[in-house]
Amino acid sequence: MILDRIYNSTSENMPDIPDGSVDLVVTSPPYNIDNQYGNKTEKGSILESKGIKYADKMEENDYRKMLLSVFSECKRVLKKNGSAWINIKNRYDNGVVIPPFWLLDLFQDMYLKNLIVWNFDWGGSTNKRFAPRYEFVFWFVKDKNNYTFNLDDVKIPALNYRPDRYKSQLKNPTDVWRISMVSGNFEERTSHPAQYPEELIERIILAGTNKGDIVLDPFMGSGTSAVVAKKLGRHYLGYETVSEYCKIADERLSRVSEDNNE
Ligand SMILES: C[S@@+](CC[C@H](N)C(=O)[O-])C[C@H]1O[C@@H](n2cnc3c(N)ncnc32)[C@H](O)[C@@H]1O
Repeated sequence: MILDRIYNSTSENMPDIPDGSVDLVVTSPPYNIDNQYGNKTEKGSILESKGIKYADKMEENDYRKMLLSVFSECKRVLKKNGSAWINIKNRYDNGVVIPPFWLLDLFQDMYLKNLIVWNFDWGGSTNKRFAPRYEFVFWFVKDKNNYTFNLDDVKIPALNYRPDRYKSQLKNPTDVWRISMVSGNFEERTSHPAQYPEELIERIILAGTNKGDIVLDPFMGSGTSAVVAKKLGRHYLGYETVSEYCKIADERLSRVSEDNNE
């Protein structure tokens, strides 16, 4: 198997990846919300367009079939002690929340270890309800008793540390993670309209893999999962249908080697 490669094709089939060869899947699938990603809009009309767009509007049945194929392939290539971390958010239908719990149907043959709430400070505003400020990360494992979890590598400083009561100043980060979205002034920002932050993926890869392990992202976008895997000494594999995003990912990855050689 060729490692450290992003395929410019759909991940519905991953013919180059053998069964049981990948340690961890981390991804953020398209949400099928027809969002005007990166566009400044007013009442549905586009006022200003930024970045390179990708299609995010399929028939719901076709969308679910696509995800079923992709995640079936992910499960095929995952090792017996492998895990899958899926970042997804709520949808809104005429102001009514539709949580993404339908994802559980696609992972019935795996075990949900954590449903993590990723909380951030930034996003659209509304005066009709509380403004949405979280997304989910579903963490599934193949074997509920045999999986990698390097808690010590991801512990965070305890704000209420008391030397008389606790042995360590570091604590479990819990299942609510406060991590900033990638805003416009971040060095890691690319023109991908739905980029997730390196810090979020860093915690997942550190906790869920060891050095030299293989990380797969079937919806690679701008290459965030691959960049973080490379920085942390893990191998990466990925799929992305839009060739412009593959170029952005390659460019980001080439900078990681330069940074590491400094
Ligand atoms: C939510 S974005 C991922 C963004 C990524 N996490 C990042 O940090 O840049 C989803 C990506 O999946 C890609 N995509 C959609 N359908 C795909 C498919 N069948 N196979 C591979 N990639 C696909 C889209 O082009 C889009 O870039």
